Amino acid sequence: MKLNYVLSAALTCITVWGLHAQHHNVSAGYVPPSDPLVQQNLAEWQDLKFGLFMHWGTYSQWGIVESWSLCPEDEGWTVRRGPHAENYFDYVKAYENLQTTFNPIQFNPEKWAEAAKQAGMKYVVFTTKHHDGFAMFDTKHSDYKITDPKTPFSANPKANVAKEIFSAFRTDGFKIGAYFSKPDWHSDDYWWPYFPPKDRNVNYDPVKYPERWENFKQFTYNQIEELMTDYGKMDILWLDGGWVRPFATVDTTVEWQRTIKVEQDIDMARIAGMARKHQPGILVVDRTVPGEFENYVTPEQTVPEEPLNIPWESCMTMGGSWSYVPHDTYKPARQIVHTLIKIVSRGGSYLLNIGPGPHGDWDPAAYQRLEEIGTWMSVNSEGIYSTRSIAPFAEQNLYYTQHKSGNASYVFYLSNDDQDEVSLPDKLRFTVPEGKAIKRVELLGVGEVSFKRTDDTLEVSIPKSKQQNSGIRYAATFTLIH
Ligand code: GLC
Repeated sequence: MKLNYVLSAALTCITVWGLHAQHHNVSAGYVPPSDPLVQQNLAEWQDLKFGLFMHWGTYSQWGIVESWSLCPEDEGWTVRRGPHAENYFDYVKAYENLQTTFNPIQFNPEKWAEAAKQAGMKYVVFTTKHHDGFAMFDTKHSDYKITDPKTPFSANPKANVAKEIFSAFRTDGFKIGAYFSKPDWHSDDYWWPYFPPKDRNVNYDPVKYPERWENFKQFTYNQIEELMTDYGKMDILWLDGGWVRPFATVDTTVEWQRTIKVEQDIDMARIAGMARKHQPGILVVDRTVPGEFENYVTPEQTVPEEPLNIPWESCMTMGGSWSYVPHDTYKPARQIVHTLIKIVSRGGSYLLNIGPGPHGDWDPAAYQRLEEIGTWMSVNSEGIYSTRSIAPFAEQNLYYTQHKSGNASYVFYLSNDDQDEVSLPDKLRFTVPEGKAIKRVELLGVGEVSFKRTDDTLEVSIPKSKQQNSGIRYAATFTLIH
C-alpha cells in the first residue's frame, strides 16, 4: 500500500509538470520597476543566477503533494492519498490534524545553508505559507501554524522555522525570499464554511459579500506585514496562487485561469507599498499577474527556448515533486548543471527546489547532488555569475554567456546527455560571440590554450591530456578574454 502510494505520488508529480507549465508568452505585459532601490535589487539579483527553493509543511509527513489534495478539482495532482481519502470532509480533518504530529526535530537550517552555499547557490525562497494555509512562521493571525501549542514542534527553540531559515541563510550571504500563497484554503474568509469549496478559487462571490472579502484582504495584508517586519532584511516577496488577482487581468488563453469566475482583487498596490515601506527595494513577484508587481517572471518546470529580454527565473524540482516524497528520484548533477548553463545562457536564473522531509532534513541524495554541483561550480562559476546572454547563445552542444562588464565571454561545452565526463575534440571550432576581439583563451581548471581565428570562427586546440578521459565532468568552460 505504502509503495503504491509513493509511486502514484511520483506519477502525480510528473503530471503536475506538464499541466502546470506556463506555455503562454511570459514576457508580455512586463513593467520595469521605476523605484531605483528596486532596480538596484533586481540588478543584484540578476547576478546571482542560482537559488534554493524549499516546499515544506505538515504535508511532508504523508509524503504527498503540497496542499493540492485539499482542492476539490478532479485533476491528477489533486488525488487524495492519505487516511480517509474516500471522504472529502473526513480527509480535510485528517490533513489539518497533521498539525498535531508535526515535529521535525532534525531541523538544522545552518546545515542546509552550508550545503547550498557550497553548491554555489546565492539566494533562497522558502514556503512561509502554502495554499493549505499552514503558517511555517509565528503569525498572530491564525493558530494554524507551526508555533501553536497544538503542534509538538512549537516547544522547540527553533519553532519559528521561517525565521531560523532566513537568518541562517542570511548569515551565509544569501538574498532572502519569502514564498507566500495568496489563496488560503484554511481561512473562513477564503473558503467560507457556509458553502462547500468548489475548486481552487474563493468559494463565494467577493462582490456579493464584500465584507468577507475585505476580511480576507486584511488577513493577507497582516500576515505579509508580519513577514516584512519580524524576519530581518527581506529581498524577495514571492507570491503564488495567481488566481487571486483582479478579474480584469484573467487571461483565458491560459487553461488554469479559466477556472477563475469572480473578482479576487487582493489590492497588490497596498501590499507592495507596505512591503516596501518596511523593506525598501524588495522585489515583488506576483507571479503570473503581469504588471508593476511582477518584477520578474517565473516559468515553472520549464526553460524558455530563447533568451527573454526581461528578468526571469525558472523554478524546477530536484526530485519529482515540490514536496518531500520518500525515495523520490533526484535528477543527476549533470542534468542540473546543464540546465543551469542553458538558463543562464538565456539570461535567466535557476531556482532549484528541495523538499525537506517530516523530520526536518533532506534526503541524502539532495546533499550528494549539491556537493557534485559545488565541485563543478568551484572551477566554472565565473561563467555563471554576473553574466548576460550573448549571441549566438547556443551552437550544437555549446552555450554562451558573457560577463556583464563585456570583458570576457564564456563558452560551455556540455557532456553528452547520458555521460558525466566531457570528451573534448583535438580542435574545437565555434562562432566568435558577437564578433568580439579575442586576446586570450583559457580552459577553466586547465589553463591557457592556443587558438586561431578566421573571420568569425575560432579554432581552439585542446591539450592531448584533456581530450578523452579529460576528468572534466558535465561541462568544460572556455573563457574568451576580450
Ligand atoms: C506549482 C504547484 C505549487 C507550487 C508551485 C511552485 O504551481 O502546483 O504547489 O508551489 O508550482 O512554483
